[in-house]
Amino acid sequence: MLSQLEVHPAPPFPREVYAERRRRFMQQLGPNAAALFVAAPVSVRSNDVEHPYRPDNDMLYLTGFPEPESACLLLPEHPEHEYLLFVRPFDPERRVWVGRHAGVEGATRDYAADKAYPIQQIDQVVGELVSGRNELYFRFGRDLEWNQRVVGWMRQWQQLRPRSGTGPVVLRDPAVILHEMRLRKEAVEIDRLRKAAQIAAAGHLRALTEVRPGMFEFEVEALLDSTFRRLGASGPAYPSIVASGPNATVLHYTQNDRSLAPGDLLLIDAGAEYGFYCSDITRTFPVSATFSGAQRELYELVLSAQKAAVSMVGPGARYDEPHRRAVEMLVDGLLDLGLLTGSREENIAEERYRKFFMHRTSHWLGMDVHDVGQYKEGQEVRRLEPGFVLTVEPGLYIPEDCTDVPPEFRGVGIRIEDDVLVTETGHEVLTSLVPKEVSEIEALRREVVAR
Ligand code: GLY
Ligand code: MN
Ligand code: MN
Repeated sequence: MLSQLEVHPAPPFPREVYAERRRRFMQQLGPNAAALFVAAPVSVRSNDVEHPYRPDNDMLYLTGFPEPESACLLLPEHPEHEYLLFVRPFDPERRVWVGRHAGVEGATRDYAADKAYPIQQIDQVVGELVSGRNELYFRFGRDLEWNQRVVGWMRQWQQLRPRSGTGPVVLRDPAVILHEMRLRKEAVEIDRLRKAAQIAAAGHLRALTEVRPGMFEFEVEALLDSTFRRLGASGPAYPSIVASGPNATVLHYTQNDRSLAPGDLLLIDAGAEYGFYCSDITRTFPVSATFSGAQRELYELVLSAQKAAVSMVGPGARYDEPHRRAVEMLVDGLLDLGLLTGSREENIAEERYRKFFMHRTSHWLGMDVHDVGQYKEGQEVRRLEPGFVLTVEPGLYIPEDCTDVPPEFRGVGIRIEDDVLVTETGHEVLTSLVPKEVSEIEALRREVVAR
């Protein structure tokens, strides 16, 4: 599996990809509008050490420009410059300490900006260039300084408008347009997502075939990390969850410091980020060679619910169909096992299953692991379209202290998660390389434990 994957870093897309996105975005703006996108802030880890920099996805999607302290201004139908970048000016000293950066020249040469300015000039340039427009598209974000700055500009334009006669009077959220675009994946994006899925699959396969009792959860995490990096991913798409035994009942467990005991199940929820696109896979398997009776019963139940949920994915299906189907299957199974009582209908209506299955079955997947895009259109749950990518990830989590279920079920957590692309005719499971059938898993685990 590892040897079959071609290893190469993910380059930016060809510049036409970004140009076409900007064109489609600008086409949908109101008349005489401008749009501003700003880079994600640098974030301090401790003292003078920063977190690894991760660019903002909206800005990346439209420009491919990955540097901090930058902004993109779009001025549709401007005769000379529709697309402007504001960037850190080139600084030879910074070149020595932190390496390459585009500078103003690189912003036009390598990123196709019609015009570029040092970021320090943005107040003056935006103040002038946007003062002739009626609307500004800007999304308030985590960077409070940018939010303040835009509020300041709006105030200034409001005050000047009586005499100048122009200036934005409306601030609009670009996400209404842009996140709809991001929800529908282009062919080049699907290639990236497929690769991110394959890389994550390789990591999960290594875990399945190398994990042994006595290892620590963090050793398994290291195995995943090294596989992701060796195959060209920038790293995990989110902190990997490596949860053994009762830790698997903690949904966002990331401590990863327990030693794996024989008889445990191990739940691994880990995805890779490749060229700014994410994968998100969960598998659950025994640390020993086989599932215990109770573990197997719960596992088979989650697996059948997951497969039934995946089968609901296709063009025209409601986004929540997979969840609805998974809930039905899980409730039926929990009733059969005696973990729930009463009728299917009342358990569903009163959401009693939430005691054991408390999250949703799906989310969009893309540049963000919980990707952008509306799940509802007005009051209506949205329907799936070709090019949408979503996860399907039902689970069951029986708390350790759940004294009203038989002891053999307590402290068991199981989730099975695949990434699914909606196609013209149905769906494609991007993560199908990682086994999930009991027989496949036990065959692999038997080999490991016998070694
Ligand atoms: N890994 C986060 C999720 O499954 O949604
Ligand atoms: Mn996940
Ligand atoms: Mn997920």
